[in-house]
Amino acid sequence: NWTGVIAIDGPAGAGKSTVAKLVASKLGISYLDTGALYRALAYYLDSLSIPAQESPELRKALFDVTVEIRASSVFLNGTDVSSLIRTPAVDRIASLYSALPSVREKLLMLQRDQALKGGLVADGRDMGTVVFPYAPVKVFLTAQAEVRAQRRYDELASRGVKVDYRKLLDEILQRDEADAKRSIAPLKQAPGAVLLDSSSMNAEQVADAIADIARAVC
Ligand code: C5P
Repeated sequence: NWTGVIAIDGPAGAGKSTVAKLVASKLGISYLDTGALYRALAYYLDSLSIPAQESPELRKALFDVTVEIRASSVFLNGTDVSSLIRTPAVDRIASLYSALPSVREKLLMLQRDQALKGGLVADGRDMGTVVFPYAPVKVFLTAQAEVRAQRRYDELASRGVKVDYRKLLDEILQRDEADAKRSIAPLKQAPGAVLLDSSSMNAEQVADAIADIARAVC
């Protein structure tokens, strides 16, 4: 059985979570969606009307709140928020709060702890650079922005959420820029990461490629 960490980073809509889940099931290991953790905290802080900037009230709220991962759900103070955090509104605020050092610090150990139980596929923005710098397999998964916007559009449409494609594309570009330009844990290809462009590959093909890389490593 595979026991290491597979770190997958990349911009919004590259297919990271779909691919990461497939890789996890192919190798029989766990999957960690770190975007869900940032989404949950952003949702929480926003619901308390705490602005997305460092402040004593932000730090107090972060100190008080419990974030847990059980199965593939995220719990805030014991409540499952998994279905509340996948909305365009949370897309926007997650990127704002995730740029704050105290938010990232709150989630660092929680993410690392998930790798203590055995093999793990983790996806996010800083898996290979910050959270799991010693991961034996690192992937930077990307795709053309138009392809990513279309995938996100289809995903939202399948859940009955109607959005404007142009607006979605603009928001994806803005979010990528914010994630890549922030000073702490910016989105970037980690040293040693394999670059995969999924524009003309389906999730199954990308997952097979990653599982093959993992099997070749150990
Ligand atoms: O991956 P997902 O789109 O769910 O992530 C939502 C937001 O959370 C990202 O735009 C990014 O700002 C933040 N994030 C992060 N670091 C991670 C995962 C997500 O900053 N490891």
